[in-house]
Amino acid sequence: MADGHAVGERAKFREMLEGTKEDWEIIAEHSRIFNKGLAKRVLDHLRLLDGDFGGFPIDRLEHSLQTATRAHRDGRDEEYVVCALLHDIGDTLGSMNHPDVAAAILKPFVSEENLWMVANHGAFQGYYFFEYLGLDKNMREQFKDSPHYQRCAEFCHKYDQAAFDPDYESEPLEFFEPMVERVFSKPKNSMYLKAMKSAE
Ligand SMILES: [Fe+2]
Ligand SMILES: [Fe+2]
Repeated sequence: MADGHAVGERAKFREMLEGTKEDWEIIAEHSRIFNKGLAKRVLDHLRLLDGDFGGFPIDRLEHSLQTATRAHRDGRDEEYVVCALLHDIGDTLGSMNHPDVAAAILKPFVSEENLWMVANHGAFQGYYFFEYLGLDKNMREQFKDSPHYQRCAEFCHKYDQAAFDPDYESEPLEFFEPMVERVFSKPKNSMYLKAMKSAE
């Protein structure tokens, strides 16, 4: 390994109170390698949506691909397209708050406006169906003073609510993989950022 530690070497502490600089150099080196696989792990998790219809006309992976494809074909930049691709990745683990899961995964890598859009798309998407479930379709109005309101409303209108067409030909997941790799290779916000930079 780069700093002289053998592959498989482990820290020696039994509780962190005993930790040494060497222990943490070993752990930091492992996490540097582990972090490089993040995009792949995220994509693997997204694949769990394959075949998950939930009563919708198309499954959740196809919906994700269609949302991202529509955004891409409309000229959106790479970061936006990756947000579109991953906006519903939380459906498996966050069935009561799925936008929070996607936002947590994307938070270190995207702009504040894109993060806000992903984090709040649930309330904005509700404009198109909440009335049928006894909910307030105007729930999004609680955000009317946000500078990101229009961005989120546009995302849902143009791409998310529009992405349930079984006849639409989306790009395959492989098409988006290099984009996900690039976006996840450049963290912008993380409390670990300084340590990550010095380990490069
Ligand atoms: Fe969603
Ligand atoms: Fe969606």
